Amino acid sequence: MSPADTGDGQDAEPTWGSGEPSGSVPREPAVLRISPLEPQHRVPVEEILRATAVFRPEEIEIALEVLDSYYAHPERDYTTLGAFTPGGDLLGYLCYGPTPCTVGTWDLYWIAVSPAAQNLGVGSLLLQEVERRLARADARLVVIETSSQPVYHPTRAFYRRRGYDEVARVKDFYSDGDDRVIFAKRIST
Ligand SMILES: CC(C)(COP(=O)(O)OP(=O)(O)OC[C@H]1O[C@@H](n2cnc3c(N)ncnc32)[C@H](O)[C@@H]1OP(=O)(O)O)[C@@H](O)C(=O)NCCC(=O)NCCS
Repeated sequence: MSPADTGDGQDAEPTWGSGEPSGSVPREPAVLRISPLEPQHRVPVEEILRATAVFRPEEIEIALEVLDSYYAHPERDYTTLGAFTPGGDLLGYLCYGPTPCTVGTWDLYWIAVSPAAQNLGVGSLLLQEVERRLARADARLVVIETSSQPVYHPTRAFYRRRGYDEVARVKDFYSDGDDRVIFAKRIST
């Protein structure tokens, strides 16, 4: 699957060509729309964050605060993208922004895909689209932080498979036995 190149600022319309989604997720090859989140997507985002069952309540609160900050000042500190079914259902989202006091470094703050839509390429599609947009914005580096907890093992594997290298670890950062794992990827135009 590859996002359609629609140019800067345009919504991408990638083809979602395989997989057997369940529930309200389309079962046949379909077109997913990737576009910025709007205020009405706050509730679906919260539902997705809760449904993933990996985030603590205070992490979900912070994710929603970040979203509110984005809604108040779009594209100042944060940018969001959602992956939508043709019917407009939100399957997943991510939030990223320029890292303060750096030249061309960006942080990926949050990424989450509804469990019903995981392992079908939605997260990869979102990440590809961010990287495409960042390449056009002359970004150099994308940094992602996550936890060393076993529950995040698939997430860390997901980042590695998409070319993100583990560049640092802060031992016991989140709590004893829970390291902060830092991934990075160079962006090339
Ligand atoms: C991490 C996360 C965002 C990944 O999203 P996703 O949509 O499941 O990711 P993808 O489907 O693109 O990729 C997952 C796997 O599915 C496979 N896949 C991709 N397209 C596919 C398709 N069309 N059909 C079947 N499988 C496919 C990929 O190969 C990938 O496997 P790999 O990593 O071994 O290569 C998602 O699992 C999630 O929300 N996790 C919980 C929240 C979380 O951990 N967030 C990050 C906090 S730091």
